[in-house]
Amino acid sequence: MHPTTVSFATLLFTLILFPSLSSANLDSGKNAVRVPLKRSWPVTHGSSGSGDNPTPGLVNARSLRAHLKWTDKKYRSTFTAYQSNTGSSHPLAPPSVPPRRSREAERKRRASLEEYSNLPGFARESVAARSSSVPGAISLAEENGDMWIGAISVGSPPQNFTVVFDTGSSDILLPSASCNSTCDGHNRYDPSQSTTSVNLNQTFSLTYGDGSTAVGELYSDDVLIGGYEAVNQTLGAALTYSANFQAPTFNTDGLLGLGFPQISVYGQPPVFQTLISDGAVPESLFGITLSSVSGKSELMIGATDTEMYNQSSMVYVSVSLAAYWQIRMDGLTRPGLNNSGDVVIANTTSYAEAIIDTGTTLIVTSDDNAQKYYADVPGAELVPSLGSGVWSVPCDSIGSILPSITFGGQAFAVSSSTFNLGQVSDNSTNCVAGLAGGGSDYYIIGDVFLQNVYTVFDVGNSRVGFAKLA
Ligand SMILES: *[C@@H]1O[C@H](CO)[C@@H](O)[C@H](O)[C@H]1NC(C)=O
Ligand SMILES: *[C@@H]1O[C@H](CO)[C@@H](O)[C@H](O)[C@H]1NC(C)=O
Ligand SMILES: *[C@@H]1O[C@H](CO)[C@@H](O)[C@H](O)[C@H]1NC(C)=O
Ligand SMILES: *[C@@H]1O[C@H](CO)[C@@H](O)[C@H](O)[C@H]1NC(C)=O
Ligand SMILES: *[C@@H]1O[C@H](CO)[C@@H](O)[C@H](O)[C@H]1NC(C)=O
Ligand SMILES: *[C@@H]1O[C@H](CO)[C@@H](O)[C@H](O)[C@H]1NC(C)=O
Ligand SMILES: *[C@@H]1O[C@H](CO)[C@@H](O)[C@H](O)[C@H]1NC(C)=O
Ligand SMILES: *[C@@H]1O[C@H](CO)[C@@H](O)[C@H](O)[C@H]1NC(C)=O
Repeated sequence: MHPTTVSFATLLFTLILFPSLSSANLDSGKNAVRVPLKRSWPVTHGSSGSGDNPTPGLVNARSLRAHLKWTDKKYRSTFTAYQSNTGSSHPLAPPSVPPRRSREAERKRRASLEEYSNLPGFARESVAARSSSVPGAISLAEENGDMWIGAISVGSPPQNFTVVFDTGSSDILLPSASCNSTCDGHNRYDPSQSTTSVNLNQTFSLTYGDGSTAVGELYSDDVLIGGYEAVNQTLGAALTYSANFQAPTFNTDGLLGLGFPQISVYGQPPVFQTLISDGAVPESLFGITLSSVSGKSELMIGATDTEMYNQSSMVYVSVSLAAYWQIRMDGLTRPGLNNSGDVVIANTTSYAEAIIDTGTTLIVTSDDNAQKYYADVPGAELVPSLGSGVWSVPCDSIGSILPSITFGGQAFAVSSSTFNLGQVSDNSTNCVAGLAGGGSDYYIIGDVFLQNVYTVFDVGNSRVGFAKLA
């Protein structure tokens, strides 16, 4: 066995071979599938940090720290994937990313791959004929938190999983039936119980800068999202989960990436690209609405949900570089204090790229940009104990420094309830604010913003659409 290496040429070939079928089947989006989403892995208005008797309105410090770490790792890992898939480094990747694996980390990685190389493969049995199931909705419950999760099933007969729908990455990761106790508390994918599974005889290793890993094997199997089937979809079955994926910190089984193939760590087409290739979706796009209101969050596959947004307010912005959902941001401002003019952090003349990422909670940018944002706010301070670059401001003034972000010439307001992540600690009068430093010059636009808009991820036209909520 050897770590997966698939050249970008192969990806390109696959994509050209199966062009978007969107224009062939535009009739009304009646076949579109609504996948209800719920929040998980609580960060906001937390319920932990004070044992069995949580105080509402508190930020969940442990989850926020874990989440920020995970975000950082995800970007390191996907920037690295971009480089290996395309042969050039991503323009937004900081020079220090990807960091070279230390010799010791590399030795450990090889040793753990070695250890698994003796596991039996799973030969493919005959392909069972399947009637495609009727697209339908799956019921939704609301939890506090920041990751947006929904249900998928894999294989024949179907095995069910909850996954984080993450537009900031491009791979499917599930715990394997052969995973050790690091996967306890999660549903596990058992390829031997699926007649459509194929062992691709490749290992993968999601190795990050700090040497932590999710190591596993690649399979191809049929993945059902709502009623749509991605046939022979590549997925990773993890044999170990790193701390960030372990229950109860991570209470979802796995991840499902909705980014472009260029950032696939497996170097394989992501599930939405497979659906397009299969001609399964009426339009090559998906729409996402995230809401703290129970039952209002959904992923709409193959169409937009016109009931959810104000259609005349929709603006589209071209993807600058297909890898992440990366677009140009026209502005980021907040009101000035004491009736002074707006504080402008970004505008059309100051260049700013934004990555639209449902898998990130906050709006994350450079320390300098964040400093500029909070500089004149009395009582604003960094809270290093919550994570690098996290700021807090007095709870009673957070409502007067809410950001407005402009895309495609239209300004979108961020509400107080989404910008305020909760009280710093029990007796603190400060609250954690939704824009953090600790990143780079570009902006990762996470749920703090996305909960205020309807977002269209238009793969066919390589653009992102935003509309005001209905
Ligand atoms: C998987 O989920 C579907 C849809 O919710 C359900 O009908 C089915 O019983 C579940 N299967 C298992 C094995 O839990
Ligand atoms: C799981 O397997 C990994 C890789 O061999 C190992 O490093 C880790 O200690 C194991 N964890 C447990 C709890 O057995
Ligand atoms: C993986 O290895 C097994 C056993 O050697 C083999 O039967 C199978 O065809 C291989 N799968 C692929 C996709 O090459
Ligand atoms: C899926 O894989 C199986 C086995 O490799 C193959 O027989 C089948 O034709 C593939 N189906 C599609 C739609 O690619
Ligand atoms: C919909 O958006 C348009 C453009 O922003 C605006 O003029 C209109 O008032 C909005 N309609 C509703 C019902 O909010
Ligand atoms: C706004 O007014 C308050 C109270 O007068 C003062 O403390 C603060 O420095 C002023 N802030 C700015 C940005 O002018
Ligand atoms: C845009 O931002 C730049 C850099 O922050 C600033 O120099 C310039 O004055 C701003 N332009 C406008 C029109 O606000
Ligand atoms: C908060 O205040 C209460 C009452 O004054 C006190 O008992 C408690 O220890 C304080 N908690 C913290 C974390 O300081």
